[in-house]
Amino acid sequence: MRAAISESYGKIEDVVRVSTVDEPALRPTDLWVEVRAASVNPIDWLIVTGHMRGPSEEAFPLRLGSDGAGVVCAVGSEVTEFKVGDEVYFRVAPDRTGTFAEFVAVDAALAARKPASASFVESAGIPLVALTAWQGLVEQAEVAAGQRLLVHGGAGAVGAAVVQLARHFGLHITATAAAEDADYLRELGADRVVDYRTQAFEVFPGVYDVVFDTVGGAVQERSYAVLARGGTLVSIVGAPDAKQQAYLFDVQVKPFFMRPDGDQLTRIAELVDAGALRSRVDSIFPLENVREALTRSASGRAKGKVVVWTEV
Ligand SMILES: NC(=O)c1ccc[n+]([C@@H]2O[C@H](COP(=O)([O-])OP(=O)(O)OC[C@H]3O[C@@H](n4cnc5c(N)ncnc54)[C@H](OP(=O)(O)O)[C@@H]3O)[C@@H](O)[C@H]2O)c1
Repeated sequence: MRAAISESYGKIEDVVRVSTVDEPALRPTDLWVEVRAASVNPIDWLIVTGHMRGPSEEAFPLRLGSDGAGVVCAVGSEVTEFKVGDEVYFRVAPDRTGTFAEFVAVDAALAARKPASASFVESAGIPLVALTAWQGLVEQAEVAAGQRLLVHGGAGAVGAAVVQLARHFGLHITATAAAEDADYLRELGADRVVDYRTQAFEVFPGVYDVVFDTVGGAVQERSYAVLARGGTLVSIVGAPDAKQQAYLFDVQVKPFFMRPDGDQLTRIAELVDAGALRSRVDSIFPLENVREALTRSASGRAKGKVVVWTEV
């Protein structure tokens, strides 16, 4: 089968190629999925370039791609909840990447039926970012209706999912984003949009119950002062000063890394079908052009998800 691989850490154009590879062995709990579309997430090119380490140095060539959508074409002997022909979407386990491929083996517990109202391309852009938003809001911040949320990078793929889920949970939402994304964010449910290029978000100190940080660095450093006492800063981009800032500002600081979860994807699909969550697609590249897809995502210019599709 054809799949995108990386031979070593390096520049995308030097180390990524699409090659004919062996099909992985199917485990009893696996689905064997014909991939229709898969989305690029920053983790994919961060691993290619060596800025994040893959599951194992000995794993080269690395198979690339973390989430996607497709059709089940075989099931392992212990799988009961899926059958051949089911349309599914998934975030694969970090040590079993490889969704930029014609086929992928996915643990059934990490997959769910894809939203009926969304195409394969739209569905492929949802798993990793929506799980991140869900886990940050529900598990880390334990949000409740009426709370005030500040989300940094609201127009990014994760940020947009945070805004939409927060609206569903009844939060009051302020988002930082570029001015050109303000209308898009209001459409998604933001009550207030702060143009990060020209405006300061810290006009009112101590007002937010939750800050959801997808940007980090100086933005994060400036965010502690806008949290109410006892408030929570959730970060998906690390939090180097977590302990000190939590102590100084009397807040909770929760950096976390998302995990794959099929049950949560089922709930997320219900929200998509109810019209509460949608995916914005920036561009679509055929599998053979996966390098261009990774480069587009890494450019920082994409507005929404970059999707890789498998030609039939
Ligand atoms: N820990 C985890 O589990 C986890 C999970 C998913 C993602 N991540 C990480 O989270 C980050 C975001 O991922 P993503 O997929 O959402 O990326 P993305 O789609 O590229 O979005 C990034 C967004 O940040 C905005 N931005 C940049 N600088 C900003 C600033 N100073 N203030 C406000 N917004 C700013 C960008 O706006 P412009 O378009 O104006 O530049 C863009 O909309 C990445 O670093 C990724 O690796 C971590």
